[in-house]
Amino acid sequence: MEKKSSNTNLNKASKAKKDEFYTQLVDIEKELKHCKDQFRGKGVYCNCDDPFESNFFKYFATNFNALGLKKLIATSYKPSPIANTQLNLFGDITVLSTPKGRPKITANKFIINEVDDIDGDGAFDLRDIAEQLKANKNNEWAPLKGEGDFRSKESIELLKQADIVVTNPPFSLFREYVAQLMEHSKKFLILGNQNAIIYKEIFKFIKENKMWLGYDNGGTKWFQVPTDYNIPTESRIKTENGIKYFSMGSIVWFTNMDTTKRHEELTLYKKYSSEEYQKYDNYDAIEVPRFLDIPMDHDGVMGVPITFLDRYNPEQFEIVGSNRGIDQDSNKIYGRGSFLNGKETFKRLFIKNRMAKK
Ligand SMILES: C[S@@+](CC[C@H](N)C(=O)[O-])C[C@H]1O[C@@H](n2cnc3c(N)ncnc32)[C@H](O)[C@@H]1O
Repeated sequence: MEKKSSNTNLNKASKAKKDEFYTQLVDIEKELKHCKDQFRGKGVYCNCDDPFESNFFKYFATNFNALGLKKLIATSYKPSPIANTQLNLFGDITVLSTPKGRPKITANKFIINEVDDIDGDGAFDLRDIAEQLKANKNNEWAPLKGEGDFRSKESIELLKQADIVVTNPPFSLFREYVAQLMEHSKKFLILGNQNAIIYKEIFKFIKENKMWLGYDNGGTKWFQVPTDYNIPTESRIKTENGIKYFSMGSIVWFTNMDTTKRHEELTLYKKYSSEEYQKYDNYDAIEVPRFLDIPMDHDGVMGVPITFLDRYNPEQFEIVGSNRGIDQDSNKIYGRGSFLNGKETFKRLFIKNRMAKK
């Protein structure tokens, strides 16, 4: 029994360690450039973001006036192993030698209601913001009472003050994280692993069109990681100026903010033929291994790779199920693995073309 609980603790610790990777400003800018208009007059909360390390905080603080934000809130998480280090704009990471008024050891909250012009040296630096925060009674910078867990009462109180949550949350808590956003009816733009699409707790929101993908999905993204972060694949590691980076594939933006992309029609070229498209052994559906080969004239159910979601337009297609998550479907049709001639296929979304042209 004792052994089991120490194993569980070890497992939790190793999962928590894996959550420690930090988004680069360039990736935030690449995504946010598409949806700037939707931030005007809004309160943004970055709830897994130490203002001293998070580029999300940096992005919104720097662009506070340009985006027309009403409020920016960021809270850090105390157990974060780099909570006492400072990530500055120029990318070097240094252990803070003097606290200089900055609360240490505890988790912090920053609440910004007003940002005066950043000083004229052209460089944003947290010192500027800290100075402004201190000078401006409309802003607040204080330690949190607890650890800064996004599920804590004080974090939820801050969540209630915000309209949009934007961050890269801990992947190990992704299901709970999204459930909380949905429970509080918040708009969000968050990074996650593509595989989360078919987690049954996430898939239900995707199927109901309550959540979809943003713009800059797929490919690889580089994340800053602590130096002891374990990366088994050599080609996924790079070190620049003593900072370690990890490249991850299949990282996508999940959102419930409108995109122009999800209104674009996917152009289809192929016609259905029973020779070309195989039927599953155990589903009344055809297999389409590349979503670009979806036949334009097929009005039945089709199994497509989960990457289809990146091009999903809900006016053109309907998502009816997936081949994971056995209890996803009260009719018990979907949720089982899909087989072709006795061989199980990869993860699939089952879709129907609402505009099938015969
Ligand atoms: C994937 S990292 C991303 C950090 C930052 N948002 C960024 O994009 O650079 C996830 C962060 O969530 C923090 N975290 C882990 N569990 C948390 C929790 N329960 N509540 C709030 N933050 C948590 C971790 O310490 C980690 O810094």
